Amino acid sequence: MNNYFKHLEIVDSIDSTNKELKKDQYNLYDNYVLIAKEQTNGHGRLTRTFVSNKDVGLYMSIRIKPNIEIDRLNNITCVICAIVCKSLEKQLNIPIDIKWVNDLYINSLKVAGILVESKINFNTNKFDYLVIGIGINLYNQEFDESLKNIASSIEKETGVKLDKNLLIEDILNELSSYLKDYNSFEYMKYYISRSFIIGKKIKLQTSLELIDCEVIDINYSGELIVKYQNSLKTINSAEIIKTYI
Ligand code: BTN
Repeated sequence: MNNYFKHLEIVDSIDSTNKELKKDQYNLYDNYVLIAKEQTNGHGRLTRTFVSNKDVGLYMSIRIKPNIEIDRLNNITCVICAIVCKSLEKQLNIPIDIKWVNDLYINSLKVAGILVESKINFNTNKFDYLVIGIGINLYNQEFDESLKNIASSIEKETGVKLDKNLLIEDILNELSSYLKDYNSFEYMKYYISRSFIIGKKIKLQTSLELIDCEVIDINYSGELIVKYQNSLKTINSAEIIKTYI
């Protein structure tokens, strides 16, 4: 299928493909792709649940061991968002919106999320592993009342039933080409071009405080540049709680 990713496993059901690939036994492989038809305990950032109903989405994790310093990969979540976005747009022919840092939207509803987890080796300043988790709501499904106005599927929003195998192949091809030289420039340009929060006023939860600010830009390291109380702040980790129209 793809020369770079030689170990690809598809399972019917698992708690979480990310959780599975973080296990020590996968040390044996240079890289490993795990795809589940359903996840019983799929999760997103900040321990949120990622609803992963049977046969209606793509739930895929990829474990890699990049042989470069960790700082070169500080924008990896954005790069993966761009790769997934690009693959989806190829088949859909409509632009997808990105919400910093890891969510993809159509018609203001979340249709996909990325979760990158890692183990750092502080002796080498490299990663022991990176697990890249990709969750895409592909086909029609019922979401709980609590998610109805937040999440949707690509089929519901566009009427298009995407070809899952084609999508997997495309994402893995693009990812393997990025992993050859880790050149993120074009991906970051793409990411920024699809980021709908630039120029918007937002409510942002940082580790210290909840602030109302304006998004000025996103830099090539994937950090948010915001204007807050008349000065510029660079934010590398936070959660957008609300986007004002
Ligand atoms: C988010 O919404 O914050 C990210 C969602 C990431 C979901 C994917 S599905 C495959 C992999 N396994 C998980 O448990 N999570 C990721």
